[in-house]
Amino acid sequence: MEKNTEEQDFIYLKRLKRHHDELRWLYMELYDNSSMFAELCENLHYFYKERTQALKQLDVYREEQPDWYKKNDMLGMMLYIDNFAGNLSGVEKKLDYIENCNVNYIHLMPFLETPEGRSDGGYAVSDFRKVQERLGTMKELEHLTASCHKRNMNVCIDFVMNHTSEEHEWAKKARAGDGEYMSRYFFYENDTIPEMYERTVPQVFPTTAPGNFTWLPDAGHYVMTSFYPYQWDLNYKNPRVFNEMMYHFLYLANRGIDIIRIDAVPYIWKELNTQCRNLKQVHTIVRMMRIISEIVCPGVLLLGEVVMEPEKVVPYFGTVEKPECHMLYNVTTMATTWHTVATRDVSLLKKQLDIVNHLPKEYVFLNYLRCHDDIGWGLDYHTLLCEGIEERSHKQYLNRYFQGLEGGSRSRGELYNADPVTGDARFCGTTASMCGIEKAGFEKNEEDMEKAIRLDIMLHAYMFMQSGIPVLYSGDEVGQVNDYSYKENSAKADDSRYIHRGAFNWKLAKQIDDKTSVSGRIFHSLGQLEKIRKSEKVFVCQADTWTVDMSDKSVLCIGRYYEGEKILGIFNFSEFDKILGIQGEDERYTDMISNQTVKASEIKIPAFGFLYLKR
Ligand code: GLC
Repeated sequence: MEKNTEEQDFIYLKRLKRHHDELRWLYMELYDNSSMFAELCENLHYFYKERTQALKQLDVYREEQPDWYKKNDMLGMMLYIDNFAGNLSGVEKKLDYIENCNVNYIHLMPFLETPEGRSDGGYAVSDFRKVQERLGTMKELEHLTASCHKRNMNVCIDFVMNHTSEEHEWAKKARAGDGEYMSRYFFYENDTIPEMYERTVPQVFPTTAPGNFTWLPDAGHYVMTSFYPYQWDLNYKNPRVFNEMMYHFLYLANRGIDIIRIDAVPYIWKELNTQCRNLKQVHTIVRMMRIISEIVCPGVLLLGEVVMEPEKVVPYFGTVEKPECHMLYNVTTMATTWHTVATRDVSLLKKQLDIVNHLPKEYVFLNYLRCHDDIGWGLDYHTLLCEGIEERSHKQYLNRYFQGLEGGSRSRGELYNADPVTGDARFCGTTASMCGIEKAGFEKNEEDMEKAIRLDIMLHAYMFMQSGIPVLYSGDEVGQVNDYSYKENSAKADDSRYIHRGAFNWKLAKQIDDKTSVSGRIFHSLGQLEKIRKSEKVFVCQADTWTVDMSDKSVLCIGRYYEGEKILGIFNFSEFDKILGIQGEDERYTDMISNQTVKASEIKIPAFGFLYLKR
């Protein structure tokens, strides 16, 4: 039922009252500027009023059901609008396909205005309120989000708040010497301060964009550029930057966005003599963003992109009383998964899962096998060293393994940002290629293809078993392999991440009804697992999740329990069939795929296979 203006203002004021003091306190601590704070509050009200009735209703519903996103039907998919369906209206036409994938949350990769050829895949925004012309318009975005909401589908977008493109209006004015705008970035007339920063700040792209500063000959200044030289870091010490970026955030939320992915969030505050990552002011800013969304658009979730080790990631959830992000990526688990594929040894993965499983249940992780970025080998090297595995040589092994050069590997893919100084390199490739589907397909090797498909499906089954929300990378549901065409495009050729950012192969999607085809087998197996997930309450985020000791180093067992129900997932990371028992368990289970009864003391797990067992 629609609420009248008075009632609505009451809702707004109630939210404001609940949060005002904390917001003011944090703002003043950071900026000590009451007139800018007053301006912020005025704008919060403006954006609340601008929000549509439908979104306001959704906000109220979600406020009453704060766990709405923790259900077992949540399944995400990330996709590039152009790669997937050309443009926004094309995506809208493909919603049936997305629904057919059991996906109810789509992450639309960056689509805001960005200079052609100097865009970092859209992560260099030159206008936060304009959609790239080739992809559509804001109106079309609103239409798409409304259509998604009719299907109970959520929409996620990136909010690239660490930097703007050098073509952003502010950057252009700063470049022309306007002091007001120069103060929104980090400008230095000589290299004294930049050099001081360089002493402590690591490099994000050591090969493709070395250093953290760029010299602008026309402006006679250095500008801070932690990522590419055309991505200028914003200076959040300036309250104007914070306020304006919050207005952009709310403007975008009001287009009907459900999930805002805060891009590169650990980097947003800089201090000399630090690494300029995860500083305490970053947490103040994220907490303020959370409060701002609770006041204006409480139906919106914040997803932090924190690609760091677990100790650095977890603080971005904030505390139970003062939460920051609703969701974070389970990045170490993802990297450790591929380590496990390459070593056939689940011990490090088990340890990593135990860490995640022991965290408070309020913390929701997004689980994934692949995304649009490279895989950085951020593993627990301390533990590995105790087993005699040394960081540098192990990273080299993993990179060689996934290039298909070592360890009986059938993977295909490429290195990313190989750093000649540190010897470090990251890795790029699609799930299917890393599982061996590309190589087996090329060589027409049926036996290898069988193994590769099994590995691919087993990894998805394992990902669905983890605590949190699974997110598919578009194309993985049909086993799409690497795309090497980026090498022919001079704007992309140096960035091997484009190997796994190819156009979606609709030919594969057409084959999904043929259950003997590679894509059909993967699609149907994932569909079966997704349906199990949706129908079994043990897959809610609040379930107990734990690992079970197995007597075989290649076999991982994950248990889930919720309100009297229990399911075990058993995953064989090796190319050998196994027969194992679960210690201390004398129970009979039902294999949820074959419907057969299985004795806990004698479980058969085929090579690269898995079982979902229900008590
Ligand atoms: C994030 C994105 C990555 C981009 C970077 C800079 O890490 O995932 O693709 O290069 O931010 O914006």
